[in-house]
Amino acid sequence: MKIIDGKAVSLRIKDEIKEKTAKLSESGIIPTLAVIIVGNDPASRVYVNNKKKACEYVGFNSVEYALDESVSRNELLGLIDRLNADSGVDGILCQLPLPKHIDENAVMNAISYEKDVDAFNPINVGRIMSGDFGMLPCTPAGIMELIASTGESVCGKRAVVIGRSNIVGKPTAMLLLNADATVTVCHSKTKNLKDICRQADILIAAVGKAGFVTADMVKEGATVIDVGINRGKDGKLRGDVDFEGVAGKAGYITPVPGGCGPMTIAMLMKNTYNAALRRQNTETCG
Ligand code: GUN
Repeated sequence: MKIIDGKAVSLRIKDEIKEKTAKLSESGIIPTLAVIIVGNDPASRVYVNNKKKACEYVGFNSVEYALDESVSRNELLGLIDRLNADSGVDGILCQLPLPKHIDENAVMNAISYEKDVDAFNPINVGRIMSGDFGMLPCTPAGIMELIASTGESVCGKRAVVIGRSNIVGKPTAMLLLNADATVTVCHSKTKNLKDICRQADILIAAVGKAGFVTADMVKEGATVIDVGINRGKDGKLRGDVDFEGVAGKAGYITPVPGGCGPMTIAMLMKNTYNAALRRQNTETCG
C-alpha cells in the first residue's frame, strides 16, 4: 500500500502556478481573487484563511469581503455585481454555506461564469457535463490529480463514487467518465453497496460519514480516495474511510488530513490563474 501525499502534490502544482504567475506579472497582470465570507462559521473562516494563504504563496492578490450574518440577499448580490464588473478581479468565490435567508443557487447564478472559480454557476456545471473543463470543479479536479500522481491509468478502469452531491459526487463522476473510466455513482438508496464497491479499481468516498468505508468494501489493490472531512467529538479530523482497516488492502490511499483538502485549494489557484490569463489575452487582443 502506498499513501498518496496530497500536500506534496498540491505543493508541486502551486509551485508551477507560482512560477507562471511571476511571468504573467511581468505583463502587469496579477491574478486577483475576491473572497466573500458571510457570518462567523468557524470552519468557513479556516477554509477562507487557507485560500488567502495559498493566494499569497503563489503571488496572487486576494481581497476579502467579510459580511455580517444579517446581510440581505440584495446587498450580497449587489456586491457580486460590482465584482463582476471590476476588470481588476479575475475570480470570485463566495464561501458556502450561506445563512438560511440567502438562496445559495441565486448567488451561484449571479457570479459571472468567467469569474466563477468554484465552477458552481450552472453555465460551468453544464460545460463540465459536455466535457469542457475551462473552469475546473476544484475538489473533483484535485481527485483526478491525486489519481494521476500514482502513475496508474484511469482508462477502462471500474470507478465507484459513493455520494452524489453537486460539489463532489456528480462532477467527479463526470471527470472519471471523461478519462474513460466505467463509472458507477452510489448513494444512500443504493442496494448492495458493498458488492458494488468491491468491484471498484478506483473508489471515491464522498459520503460525509466518518469511517463509512471499511476493508470488506474494498477490492485488493484498489486506489481509494477519501474526500470526507468529519470532525469527531475529540476535535480530530476523520475521513469517510476507515484508514487503519483499509490501508492494508488498498494499493493507494489518501490520508485525512493531507489528501484531498490541499488539492481543492491548488485547483482553485489554477482556475484563478487561468481566468487571469484570459484577461491578459483579452487585453492584448483588444
Ligand atoms: N464550502 C465547502 N466547500 C466549498 C468550496 O469548495 N467552495 C466554496 N465556495 N464553499 C465551500
